[in-house]
Amino acid sequence: MTLLATPHSAAAELTACLRRVLRSARAERSSLPEVPELELFLLNGDFSNAELTPEETRAVLEYPAYWAFCWASGQVLARYLLDHPELVAGRRVLDFGCGSGVAAIAAAKAGAAQVIACDLDPDALLATRCNAALNGVRLELVDDFETVRTPVDLILAADVLYDRSNLHWLPRFLERAPEVLLADSRVKDFSAPGYHWIGRYRSTTWPDLDEHDDFRQVNLYRGQAG
Ligand SMILES: C[S@@+](CC[C@H](N)C(=O)[O-])C[C@H]1O[C@@H](n2cnc3c(N)ncnc32)[C@H](O)[C@@H]1O
Repeated sequence: MTLLATPHSAAAELTACLRRVLRSARAERSSLPEVPELELFLLNGDFSNAELTPEETRAVLEYPAYWAFCWASGQVLARYLLDHPELVAGRRVLDFGCGSGVAAIAAAKAGAAQVIACDLDPDALLATRCNAALNGVRLELVDDFETVRTPVDLILAADVLYDRSNLHWLPRFLERAPEVLLADSRVKDFSAPGYHWIGRYRSTTWPDLDEHDDFRQVNLYRGQAG
């Protein structure tokens, strides 16, 4: 990976990633409505999908650039960590499916001793690296959860259950860490051994995808091992 010297070069590099699928998209510095402490490089807020060509529509379906949005659950989890820094202060934290890196960055800002951001999409890891630099925090980046060898005290996961095959990670998380914080707006009948509901929050994916109201209701769960 290249060294990213300035926010300008980071925006240019992320824009190039977006333009592999969307000709008129760009990555721009955005403030988050519910987490004004953080800024992220996200898809331009005035992007219109009204004029997508059939090729672009196909390309987006094949390669959804999840990292170009801060998902409603990511905003909720970041807000929760910044409001409850005692949950992460001095702890080793791993953010699974980090996307833009929003929850990992919030954990670092809230005083975590070490933060590992994990995503299988290399562009998400690039975005997370750019966004960490933008917010003045240091993160470690990994593309495969199972390659992490160091102990982890807390695992974060926001909006990863849109892919139901990720449900199988929930017991695995509790083998790797004593505690998990899971934020989700997709699974309505959620239940998994070791996880309990701690609250419901209203939020919006940013930039706003105009999603159905159901997807603006984020449930937060705590998982505890043993
Ligand atoms: C909807 S985005 C959520 C991003 C971020 N957590 C947020 O809330 O804004 C889901 C992210 O999880 C990543 N992901 C999905 N399955 C994964 C897996 N098995 N391992 C690592 N990352 C995964 C995707 O690549 C994507 O970046």
